[in-house]
Amino acid sequence: MMAPVENFVSRRRTFAIIAHPDAGKTTLTEKLLLFGGAIQLAGMVKARGDRRRARSDWMKVEQERGISVASSVMTFDFNDITYNLLDTPGHEDFSEDTYRTLTAVDSAIMVLDAAKGIESQTLKLFEVCRLRNIPIITFVNKMDRESLDPFELMDEVEDKLQMEVTPASWPIGMGRDFKGCYDLLKDELVLFDRSKGEALSATTITCSGLDDQLIDEKLPPDQAAKLREDIEMIRAICPPFDVESYLGGHMTPVFFGSAVNNFGVRELLQGIGQFAPSPRPQKTVDRLVDPHEEKVTGFVFKIQANMDPKHRDRIAFTRICSGDFKRGMKLFHTRTEKQMVIHSPLMFFAQDREMVEDAYAGDIIGIPNHGNLRIGDVLTEGEKLKFTGIPSFAPEYLQRIVSDDPLKAKHLGNALQQLAEEGVARVFKTLLDNAWIVGVVGMLQFDVLADRIRTEYNLPVKLEPTSLYTARWVFSDDATKLKLFLDNNRGAMAIDHDGDPVFMARNAWHLNDTMDKNPAIKFTATK
Ligand code: G4P
Repeated sequence: MMAPVENFVSRRRTFAIIAHPDAGKTTLTEKLLLFGGAIQLAGMVKARGDRRRARSDWMKVEQERGISVASSVMTFDFNDITYNLLDTPGHEDFSEDTYRTLTAVDSAIMVLDAAKGIESQTLKLFEVCRLRNIPIITFVNKMDRESLDPFELMDEVEDKLQMEVTPASWPIGMGRDFKGCYDLLKDELVLFDRSKGEALSATTITCSGLDDQLIDEKLPPDQAAKLREDIEMIRAICPPFDVESYLGGHMTPVFFGSAVNNFGVRELLQGIGQFAPSPRPQKTVDRLVDPHEEKVTGFVFKIQANMDPKHRDRIAFTRICSGDFKRGMKLFHTRTEKQMVIHSPLMFFAQDREMVEDAYAGDIIGIPNHGNLRIGDVLTEGEKLKFTGIPSFAPEYLQRIVSDDPLKAKHLGNALQQLAEEGVARVFKTLLDNAWIVGVVGMLQFDVLADRIRTEYNLPVKLEPTSLYTARWVFSDDATKLKLFLDNNRGAMAIDHDGDPVFMARNAWHLNDTMDKNPAIKFTATK
């Protein structure tokens, strides 16, 4: 018999969906939740309406631009497996949030629009997955529309991603002639029933293989013939599905379907349950943390403020990496070396959040706090661990932020401090004139930041361009030399939200010249 923790761990699948905007990520998410029973069919439309109303004003940025800036976690069960789906913002702007979220998953679903194939954002996100060895299942969506030839799509995935591709299901027709899929892993004919609309119904017919007469009974002769021809070709040119190769990130199985019609979603979900990895060991500076270890470890990968407008709290999204976490546990916060009692850990189910009593490796718990938990922070039962791979980004664009009301400068400072801790942007305060400079990696982050300050802190602000070129954190082993450097360069110095010194360069020459003249000082683009 398996030990209890082992049993819980093996039943968990923690994953994200990566997609180019408009490929159908939101739709697929909803359908997965529907299968998981996390939302009801009748309630879905209503929930949508409610959610729209409940959205705070700053989310207008999302609505206006048709993007999802805030991401969240959704937990649901299906066939005895607990799925933790981490939502990644899908807009085209470079997003730090997305990259951090991908540090907390064990696998990913890549959604492609069947008419478009691999698009720019898909490729970027894929590269992040590749760096982290995250295995990928591909879902080709919108088969109910005119799409690219499926063989062409498979070629494209193989060429652009440089990995082996093999179909898990194969489409029969497309657009108006889309009849369903042949499930190559189970030898089943899954027929698409247009009349069912959004209902959970596709007719599944078990076949004894491709020669089965049932295929001829259910499909028009030309489509039955084409299916047999296609599959013969696939078997000749595609490698058979190999789980090990998939788990190693070398092969992606492809499912075809139509999320909006709820077609192919169940097969996809079964595929994740069957093949996707359960929580994997996590790297730390000194050792690998095995998910089955008895002691609890976890790291914070995301901070979100004001999820509930009634509470001005912040939630630290924490991935449990090992152990059996229990509510009320006292954990060691390695950055501050203090103990923390986790009184009210939350888990997230579609639109709800609930207090949890237990959590295991792969689970994401939300820890309400007032700013003591930060991105990258580690919680353990005493060991001083540091998980690796939570990316930090150099701010590439710098703008000055000012309040329209000069009397509210202190207020602005508080807001910026909180948002900096949340990881929304880097915030610097110049030493000479106490100006606030905001540093981001994608221009859209400016809009999000300004909008949040306006709506959440009720502070009208504007952003102004600066002539600053870049920011570098400065360190030195020699405290005297560091002090001397800070004094000599006071006009170009700022402090970040932790009070650490940052050199603000006016141009490349200014940076290089200063570095040349101060060999005892280390300059870093990230902290
Ligand atoms: P995203 O989160 O990846 O950006 O995509 P989203 O799910 O919002 O889907 C983008 C559009 O594609 C939506 O249409 C959605 O209904 C449509 N869509 C999703 N899956 C399918 C599919 O299987 N077949 C077809 N034909 N369309 C699909 P929209 O017009 O932008 O929004 P809506 O008014 O339909 O909600």
